[in-house]
Amino acid sequence: MAKPTTRFVCQSCGAVTAKWVGKCETCGEWNTITEEPVEARPGAARKPGARVQFQPLVGHAEPPPRRMTGIGELDRVLGGGLVAASAVLVGGDPGIGKSTLLLQAAAALANAGSRVLYISGEEAVDQIRLRARRLGLEAAPLQLAATINVRDIVSALEAERDLALVVIDSIQTMWLDSVESAPGTVTQVRASGFELIRLAKQRGFSLVLVGHVTKEGTLAGPRVLEHMVDAVLHFEGDRGHQFRILRGAKNRYGPTDEIGVFEMTDRGLAEVPNPSALFLAERRGHIAGSAVFAGLEGTRPVLLEIQALLSVNSGGGSPRRSVVGWDSGRLSMLLAVLEARCDLRLSGSDVYLNVAGGLRITEPAADLAVAAALASAATGQPTHAGAVYFGEVGLSGEVRQVAQSDARLKEAQKLGFERAVLPRRVARGNRAPPVDGLMLDEIGHLTDLVQQFNQ
Ligand code: TYD
Ligand code: MG
Repeated sequence: MAKPTTRFVCQSCGAVTAKWVGKCETCGEWNTITEEPVEARPGAARKPGARVQFQPLVGHAEPPPRRMTGIGELDRVLGGGLVAASAVLVGGDPGIGKSTLLLQAAAALANAGSRVLYISGEEAVDQIRLRARRLGLEAAPLQLAATINVRDIVSALEAERDLALVVIDSIQTMWLDSVESAPGTVTQVRASGFELIRLAKQRGFSLVLVGHVTKEGTLAGPRVLEHMVDAVLHFEGDRGHQFRILRGAKNRYGPTDEIGVFEMTDRGLAEVPNPSALFLAERRGHIAGSAVFAGLEGTRPVLLEIQALLSVNSGGGSPRRSVVGWDSGRLSMLLAVLEARCDLRLSGSDVYLNVAGGLRITEPAADLAVAAALASAATGQPTHAGAVYFGEVGLSGEVRQVAQSDARLKEAQKLGFERAVLPRRVARGNRAPPVDGLMLDEIGHLTDLVQQFNQ
């Protein structure tokens, strides 16, 4: 039987099937299977001399050398700068600001005296120069190229010496002529990524690959790359808001729970060293349905406003539950607990919940702040204007401890809050040191919170 010359590859997860199917059986996505030519593999004959060299575990080990980009928010998410001989994937929606961020980082590193190459498969050199001018970076000793040909890039990089950083914008535009698929297909992205990453490891430079990812996952590639690179950063944000969050999703050389906060200005991305002030900037005190959550993103405390709105469900159907920035299952649970344990009538109302500013919260510690916003909306009484809230809520309405109370309290105090509503501390050894000027209102049950609105 003749060998098949094509195969069917899922553009979402990279799974291979023998025939075309409408739904990928591996990842469950629909209409992601496309036909691609089978690559010819070079002979896999065993070489007699090639052996694995084992080494003892006990031995000297140096931490990997790093280079600071000079953009503090980026360096923090990277775990302390770019690691030499490593590859980072920066993913995000088209138009979110990936090219801007990386041009700024590349220019900063070049200004510090490092050899940096910025290779774009999306924009012409003139376009990049115009962008650099807009960013005030036109004097940076940065080298640009506009090409999609990976073979050309590899030979150019092999001729380089003392290379610090190479940016590839974007990996979906790259094309390796030995692979017959079109740019942007999983096979191309994987093969091009593999070549570039191999070179980075061999020559010791830091490689940054830009990858477009849409929420619907319609563009192929980055998911197969995630396994190949050392770090994956997601650049997120709402087009309607000016700030952007850089979030670590994988990092072989650092923590994955750090965030970097930027603001998109008319002169590029500006660092936001104090995100709480930005997130709370538009808050108006003394409005029912608003509560400030003292949250934590990685090691960094962040204060956020949670807004709730209740309206009578007049349609007669099942009430609406609309959530932006938080988990809708968690909201349903809190509504049920408030109703069952605290006698708040909520089941007949449409409920809208919003994390102001567009940040997404994943911490259960937000429960208490959400409950405060809901109780405030239900009673029409504003929360204490100078109060922050944090704590996890259990099914019986008990308020549970959360990690790092101290950091949350310090941030609240720093921003001028007067009062914190938090879980009652149980163990004696667990006593947080008093924070000057902040009144601590420790509660053990959600009813203690709801009572505050019924006085
Ligand atoms: P860009 O970096 O091109 O996004 P990506 O590479 O992720 O597709 O950024 C695109 C948006 O950013 C574009 O809508 C214009 C805006 N922008 C600014 O607001 N200020 C600036 O200084 C720059 C360069 C871009
Ligand atoms: Mg771009």
